Amino acid sequence: MSSAYEQTYAAWKADPEGFWGTAAEQIDWFTSATSVFNPDMGVYGRWFDGATCNTCYNCLDRHVEAGHGDCIALIYDSPVTDTVSRFTFAEATAQVSALAHVLRGMGVAKGDRVIIYMPMVPEAVFAMLACTRLGAIHSVVFGGFAAGELATRIEDAGPKVIISASCGIEPGRIVAYKPLLDEAIEVASVKPEGCLVLQREALACELIPERDVDYADAVEAAVASGQGTECVAVAATDPAYILYTSGTTGQPKGVVRDTGGHMVALKWTMEHHYGLQPGEVFWAASDVGWVVGHSYICYGPLLHGCGTVVYEGKPVGTPDAGAFWRVIQDHKVAALFTAPTAFRAIKKEDPQGKLIDTYDLSHFRTLFLAGERSDPATIEWAQEKLDRPVIDHWWQTETGWAMSGNPVGLGAFRIKLGSPGKPMPGYDIHVLDDDGNPVPPGTLGNIVCKLPLPPSGFPTLWNAPERFLSSYMNEFPGYYATSDAGIIDEDGYVYIMARTDDIINVAGHRLSTGAMEEVIASHPDIAECAVVGKADALKGQMPLGFYVTNDGVARDGAELEKELVQLVRARIGAVAAFKTALPVQRLPKTRSGKVLRGTIQKIADGADYKMPAAIDDPAILTEVTDALAARSLIG
Ligand code: COA
Ligand code: AMP
Repeated sequence: MSSAYEQTYAAWKADPEGFWGTAAEQIDWFTSATSVFNPDMGVYGRWFDGATCNTCYNCLDRHVEAGHGDCIALIYDSPVTDTVSRFTFAEATAQVSALAHVLRGMGVAKGDRVIIYMPMVPEAVFAMLACTRLGAIHSVVFGGFAAGELATRIEDAGPKVIISASCGIEPGRIVAYKPLLDEAIEVASVKPEGCLVLQREALACELIPERDVDYADAVEAAVASGQGTECVAVAATDPAYILYTSGTTGQPKGVVRDTGGHMVALKWTMEHHYGLQPGEVFWAASDVGWVVGHSYICYGPLLHGCGTVVYEGKPVGTPDAGAFWRVIQDHKVAALFTAPTAFRAIKKEDPQGKLIDTYDLSHFRTLFLAGERSDPATIEWAQEKLDRPVIDHWWQTETGWAMSGNPVGLGAFRIKLGSPGKPMPGYDIHVLDDDGNPVPPGTLGNIVCKLPLPPSGFPTLWNAPERFLSSYMNEFPGYYATSDAGIIDEDGYVYIMARTDDIINVAGHRLSTGAMEEVIASHPDIAECAVVGKADALKGQMPLGFYVTNDGVARDGAELEKELVQLVRARIGAVAAFKTALPVQRLPKTRSGKVLRGTIQKIADGADYKMPAAIDDPAILTEVTDALAARSLIG
């Protein structure tokens, strides 16, 4: 099949409003938009101004009304609890409607915030949908974050209710959520009115009678008495959710997602980018705590009438490197979306791909990768072993869907290894130098996107409109600054090479080194520190800390490292994967006092580096090298 990409992209560019107006016909609106795009609204214009709609209605009820109530909406596959269960669209609607009723009883109404802090269980998806059913704004917090991160989000979002669970299950370890929840609420100056807590068999928890409601009891009672909730109409420009993502400081950024544009964009991608038909099964092996989980575990597949897999397990170790193939076989998965790190983990354990041949993958058509740079070796391995297209695509929490990719539904174009494809319709991507001038094809620079962002693009940051401007809009006027550096080649392929800020990507998880530095610097023995991302064969990058102790402090390095590792784990969470902190006498800085993190990172990676012209004392770089060598971290 030849690709219709070029003509589709050209059609969008010639008439963006016509393009998205047509795409919007795939969504059921309560009232139509007065304008597909209103350039005078918001910072750079808003999509579908005047329309009213409901996301939950489009994900669930409308499929039931169309006679597809018996089709599978959600498959829960949990090797860590040895459970598989399925919900049809009718069953999921009943669950979500009852849950919305419970939430309403707890005082949740349109516009209220609800924090969801849950493991990968169906109830996490139901919770998201129940919020959208009420027009409430959810904010899902990844279960790998510790109480401190949860507290920051409670403080910023001001949730009326928090939905959580007694525990999450990591291989070999039960993560008790309730103590983290209680601690976060204790610490936060803003308190929720109530908590809805799902008790799990692996570890039940004590409920606080005046605050906590048992999830299962409340929902079962609502189902049994036939109590549900209608889908509340909200404006297309009302927020559907807030998703906090790492920024350059310890204060995460609350990315706000529009309701109407979000649905239009995701529905378009399900057909055109992922090439799925309604009724097929789509599996995003991520977590609902990340944007991939929002868009492609919850909303995208359901909007399109597809079944979605909620997988509570890992690519390896639950029980082995055949886990993904087993899930694909058992649930007839048509497309899998995951991070390259998952494939690196599988490849490491089963380099010959022998387990692949022991499963029936006849329904499986395409593998999609995103979340971090796909190294060509991993893609080649996956292509060869799976004998199917492997599509890399590039996106961010801020956009909610792929900025560049290779649209299988339009017919894939030639894959170039190392490139996550070409710009998707909606994204006018350029590469600029630091002064804002376009660079020639093939030249490294700042990747920017000409405004407006397409539907689903974030209109602002929650509670931080100024930060929205300063982080994304001011540096290159008229463009959205992605904070990714890369190139566009002469054929229009995009290559993402690095972040231009202090974000690192660890196992597909976006983490702020600045946030880790804030935690380390809070240790009473630490004078100053720097955290960089060191290249890692499995996780892409791993955080690596350097610290200088206060004058007069004589601590055993191993002991202090243990304390710092524990501190980061306790404040940010296990997901930070912070394992190494090295003592140095001094940190390399410019004469104006800026820590030379980029140079430290190059030394740690064993890469060539130029002596920074403004360096204060070049000898410090030797001290950094020595610290790494002392721990055999460089050759
Ligand atoms: N709740 C609690 N803890 C969690 C967690 C969660 N939801 N998710 C991860 N963690 C913990 C892990 O148990 C681990 O703890 P440990 O230090 O005690 O071992 C720590 O956070 C680091 O996790 P991770 O970096 O994911 O490493 P891992 O060794 O557990 O797994 C992979 C490695 C590659 C198998 C795993 O990262 C993976 O499957 N990645 C897929 C990529 C992905 O999902 N990306 C999301 C964006 S698309
Ligand atoms: P997140 O907001 O968590 O989805 O992380 C977004 C960041 O992950 C981007 O800014 C990139 O740095 C990186 N990223 C996502 N997808 C890709 C990809 N396909 N190739 C390279 N980097 C990617």
